[in-house]
Amino acid sequence: MGKPFRRLGLAGKLKRLLLWILVVYISIPLIIKLCPSIQAKLVFLNFVRIPYFIDLKHPSDQGLNHTCNFYLEPEVGLKIGVWHTVPAQMWKEAQGKEGNWYDSTFSSNHPVILYLHGNAGTRGGDHRVQLYKVLSSLGYHVVTFDYRGWGDSDGSPSEEGMTSDALFIYDWLKQRLDKMPLFIWGHSLGTGVATNLVRRLCDRGSPPDALILESPFTNIREEAKSHPFSMVYRYLPGFDWFFLDAITANNIRFASDENVNHISCPVLILHAEDDGVVPFHLGKKVQITTKKQCFMNHSSL
Ligand SMILES: *[C@@H]1O[C@H](CO)[C@@H](O)[C@H](O)[C@H]1NC(C)=O
Ligand SMILES: *[C@@H]1O[C@H](CO)[C@@H](O)[C@H](O)[C@H]1NC(C)=O
Repeated sequence: MGKPFRRLGLAGKLKRLLLWILVVYISIPLIIKLCPSIQAKLVFLNFVRIPYFIDLKHPSDQGLNHTCNFYLEPEVGLKIGVWHTVPAQMWKEAQGKEGNWYDSTFSSNHPVILYLHGNAGTRGGDHRVQLYKVLSSLGYHVVTFDYRGWGDSDGSPSEEGMTSDALFIYDWLKQRLDKMPLFIWGHSLGTGVATNLVRRLCDRGSPPDALILESPFTNIREEAKSHPFSMVYRYLPGFDWFFLDAITANNIRFASDENVNHISCPVLILHAEDDGVVPFHLGKKVQITTKKQCFMNHSSL
């Protein structure tokens, strides 16, 4: 007699579990619709700090022995954290040096890359640090920062805030550079910031020397639709209304597909075919939209 009871009990538990999953599945879109700011948090992921226990004041902890940490103030009372890595061949000279010395190196004969990172983490994220090392070993200065709301920077994130922080750092750099080229490198969500920034620079008649887009996407709606997080909801009726309209309601657009039509400097697009977060076809679409030859070889960079 016990066996059928047990089986019934298991079936009952299973039913209850499925019911719970269903409730959660249905609640998430409803909660997001009612509270669209959650969706903004999911786009920016600025609260995700990987690695968590990293002291951004000490880039040397990340193996960067020729990097200086400092703070700039794009708006009164709003400080953002910046790292300046000098070309690797200067590493010995850089030992024990402070801000003034780092500042003076901008007049040396080396081009500068302004790096705009993607969502989640900070300027000290490991994959980012690896790239600073590669670029600095190729003889570039690398300047990177945490947008307002990220890392140890003040404020809270927004697309407009990210773009104006990037513009502020760009102008700050431009004042320090004589004739050395200044390139802008955006990665992932940072490509959206980069095209916003470069569009503004082109509109005001002072384009940068080149724009590098690593894993770009066309616009945030298309990216959110293709993101692995959206997998379980993509075919839910009203997906756009529940999820994508909530993003748009936060004034988040990152419309690189529109921006590139206003960009007059050379553009280089880098995209891995097996990119699992920003699908390759979105990068390809950005390239097609630019209607330009998006190719730059190493020597011309
Ligand atoms: C400092 O960094 C440079 C460039 O990455 C590297 O070649 C060098 O070995 C490092 N020196 C020390 C003492 O870690
Ligand atoms: C690479 O760039 C240089 C300098 O702009 C140019 O002269 C050369 O033809 C380019 N090479 C290729 C393969 O495009």
